[in-house]
Amino acid sequence: MAMSDDLRAIQDQVEEGLKGATTLDALEQIRIAALGKKGSLTALMHMMGKVPPEERPAMGKLANTVRANVDAAIAGRKEQLARAVLDARIQAEAVDVTLPGRRLTPGTQHLISQIREEIEDIFVGLGYTVEDGPFVETTYYNFTALNAPEDHPSRSAKDTFYVEDRAPEGKVQHVLGESDVLLRTQTSGVQVHVMEEKKPPIYMICPGTVFRPDTADANHLPQFTQVEGLVVDEGITFGDLKGTLDYFCREIFGKDRATRYRPHFFPFTEPSCEVDVSCGVCHGKGCRFCKNTGWLEILGCGMVDPNVFDYVGIDPERYSGFAFGIGVERVAALRYDLPDLRMLMTGDMRFLRQF
Ligand code: DAH
Repeated sequence: MAMSDDLRAIQDQVEEGLKGATTLDALEQIRIAALGKKGSLTALMHMMGKVPPEERPAMGKLANTVRANVDAAIAGRKEQLARAVLDARIQAEAVDVTLPGRRLTPGTQHLISQIREEIEDIFVGLGYTVEDGPFVETTYYNFTALNAPEDHPSRSAKDTFYVEDRAPEGKVQHVLGESDVLLRTQTSGVQVHVMEEKKPPIYMICPGTVFRPDTADANHLPQFTQVEGLVVDEGITFGDLKGTLDYFCREIFGKDRATRYRPHFFPFTEPSCEVDVSCGVCHGKGCRFCKNTGWLEILGCGMVDPNVFDYVGIDPERYSGFAFGIGVERVAALRYDLPDLRMLMTGDMRFLRQF
C-alpha cells in the first residue's frame, strides 16, 4: 500500500506548507509543486497504470479525494489571505470620526505688502505708473549711470553684495567680491531703466526689494523694501517735489503730521534732502522713539542731477525732474511704533495678525 501512503503524505505536506504561506505567490508555488505538470500528485496519477487492476478503483478514488482536498485547502488559504489583506486596508484607511477637526488658520497680507500697496495707491491716485526692475543689477545701473563716482564708498564689497558670475570652465561659481554684477542696493537704478525706455513726461514709482550686507538688528535688515519715485517733465521745480512729498506724508501718516526737509547728499540728485515727519508718539516734543528730536527720517529725495539725464539721453535744458526713495519697513515701523525691524521678518502670526 505504498502508493496510498504517498498520496496521504502529499496531502499532509500541502496542508503543512499552506500554514506557512503568507502570499499568493507562495500559494502558487505549493500548488505547482503538487498539481503542476511535474508536481508530486501528478506524478503519482501517471503511475496509476502500474497498480494491479484489482486495487486500481480504490487507489483512483483515493487519488481523486487527495486532489480535491489539496485544491480545497489551497482555495481556503487563498480566501484567508485575501481577507487579511482587506482587513489591513480597512484598518489603515479607517477614519476616526471622534478626532477633533483641523482648524483652518488663514493668514493676513503681510504688513510690508500692505504698506507697499498703500504707497502705490497714493501715487497711482496722482497719475503715476508702477514700474518693475531686476533684483540682480550691473554696476552701471546701480551706480555709474546714477552719477556715483568710481571710488564711491557704497560700491565697496562691504556695502554691496557682488555676484561673481564669470564661471571658470563651465562651472557655476558665486563668490563675494567686486564684479560688474550685484544685488541692487537701492531701487534707484530703475530710474535709469525707465528713462532709457520711455520719453518724458515720466511719472513713475517702483517698489521693490533691495539688499545690503548689514547684520540684522533693531534698525537694519540685510534685505528690505524701497519705493523709488521719479518725475521728469518740462518745468518741474523743487516746489513740485515738496508739494508731492508733503501730500504723501500726510496721506500715509495722517493730516496732523508736519514735515521737515534737511539738506543731504545723493550722487544722482542736486540739491538733495532727507525728509523727516514729526514724531507721532510725542507730536514733536521729543521722546525716546524719536531720540528726543521730535522728528523721524522717512525718505531721501532731490532734483534729478543733469549728469543722470546725460547718461540716458534726456535734454537737461528742456526737462527737469525730481526723485525720491522711501523705506517701506521704516514707514511700517514709524506708523506702528515697532521697536525692532526684525519683527517684520520672523513670520510670527501673533505679531502679523494685528495688522
Ligand atoms: N537710493 C537712496 C538710498 O537708498 C534713496 C534715495 C534718495 C532715492 C534720493 C532717490 C533720491 O531717488 O532722489 O538711500
